[in-house]
Amino acid sequence: MNSLMKFFALLLLFVFSPLLCSNQNYRFSGRNKLFVFGDSYADTGNTKTTDKGAWAFPYGITYPGKPSGRFSDGHISTDFLAKLLRIKLPVTYSKKDDVDMTRLQYGMSFAYGGTGVFDTMATYPNMTGQINLFEQLLGNVYSPSDLSSSVALVSVAGNDYLYFLSTRPLYEIGSFIEKVVNQIEVNLRRIQTLGIKKIAVPSLQPLGYIPHFANGSPIIKALVNDLVKHHNGLLQKLVAKLNNETNHSAFTIIDYYNTFLTVFNNKGEIPGNKNILLFDTPFIECFKIDLNEVKNSTLCDDPRAAFFWDGLHPTQEGWKSVYTVLRKNITAALTN
Ligand SMILES: *[C@@H]1O[C@H](CO)[C@@H](O)[C@H](O)[C@H]1NC(C)=O
Ligand SMILES: *[C@@H]1O[C@H](CO)[C@@H](O)[C@H](O)[C@H]1NC(C)=O
Ligand SMILES: *[C@@H]1O[C@H](CO)[C@@H](O)[C@H](O)[C@H]1NC(C)=O
Ligand SMILES: *[C@@H]1O[C@H](CO)[C@@H](O)[C@H](O)[C@H]1NC(C)=O
Ligand SMILES: *[C@@H]1O[C@H](CO)[C@@H](O)[C@H](O)[C@H]1NC(C)=O
Repeated sequence: MNSLMKFFALLLLFVFSPLLCSNQNYRFSGRNKLFVFGDSYADTGNTKTTDKGAWAFPYGITYPGKPSGRFSDGHISTDFLAKLLRIKLPVTYSKKDDVDMTRLQYGMSFAYGGTGVFDTMATYPNMTGQINLFEQLLGNVYSPSDLSSSVALVSVAGNDYLYFLSTRPLYEIGSFIEKVVNQIEVNLRRIQTLGIKKIAVPSLQPLGYIPHFANGSPIIKALVNDLVKHHNGLLQKLVAKLNNETNHSAFTIIDYYNTFLTVFNNKGEIPGNKNILLFDTPFIECFKIDLNEVKNSTLCDDPRAAFFWDGLHPTQEGWKSVYTVLRKNITAALTN
């Protein structure tokens, strides 16, 4: 009798397991649009092709094999996050009129490389401007019920600090960090008010270890890492405050800071980490750009063995490692 029941139980499992599996595909069905705001860490192709930059060789050599407007050799954060959410890559705002309407169902990216919460460049919209672009689509492209299952990725502030460090006196940095986080608060509240349900904000990566700083003055490097810690502390408090106010976990921090360090150290403490390549020299970029003489720029043999692609941005393999470490936490935060 007992063994007969076991048999039936197994049979049921066998018959229904394809159903169980395909059900998993719908785990995010209540949350299947991704809207992306921010900078080159998230931009999948909004900048103008005439800008060169991410639209020039050798960007995109790993994927899709030619430049795609991503600031890397291949896939970046947005690609890996969309994959975790089990949706196709959201279309870029700049391509929205060139694609089939059905492509808009996965959300949209308003992120532009080089931008910040404040004005860091003249060409592209700051975060306020990016949210304006999103707002203009509400009511015609996206209805409120479309947003009942939406996630925002808000990748921001790196450029605000890079711009600050190259234009302002250092003693102003403390008050500037507060200004940046206050502006992030304004932006996050607005994104939520416009109807996005889950809002993921990456903490600032350890900027002192990006090749741009890592191989320079130790004093600047230390200062930059302190700046980042201060920023991340304020960001954490902000997110706790916003969640407490709204009385649910609408906001979540994606912990780039500790995850980048984990990948650099490759300590293997975090589940999933075992798949991660050991990067021999994580602080050296694969594509070394010579600003004085472009033809003197150099490209490493294998971008898959490098964490950093250029002086500022991770390679596809770098991003993959980061999202492998983060996978469980992101899934938990965006599904509850
Ligand atoms: C964002 O850009 C707009 C348009 O250029 C500008 O008016 C506004 O002051 C900027 N916002 C911030 C917070 O810098
Ligand atoms: C959450 O909000 C309540 C009421 O506004 C306040 O008393 C409490 O201190 C807040 N907690 C945190 C962690 O901010
Ligand atoms: C959230 O709402 C529940 C039920 O209304 C309440 O019991 C709880 O104390 C609230 N939590 C916070 C942090 O305000
Ligand atoms: C570029 O490389 C050539 C040959 O190695 C060298 O002579 C020249 O000085 C380099 N130019 C710059 C601007 O570094
Ligand atoms: C995941 O979340 C737990 C609990 O908040 C935290 O202790 C851990 O550091 C997080 N891991 C990563 C990789 O962010």
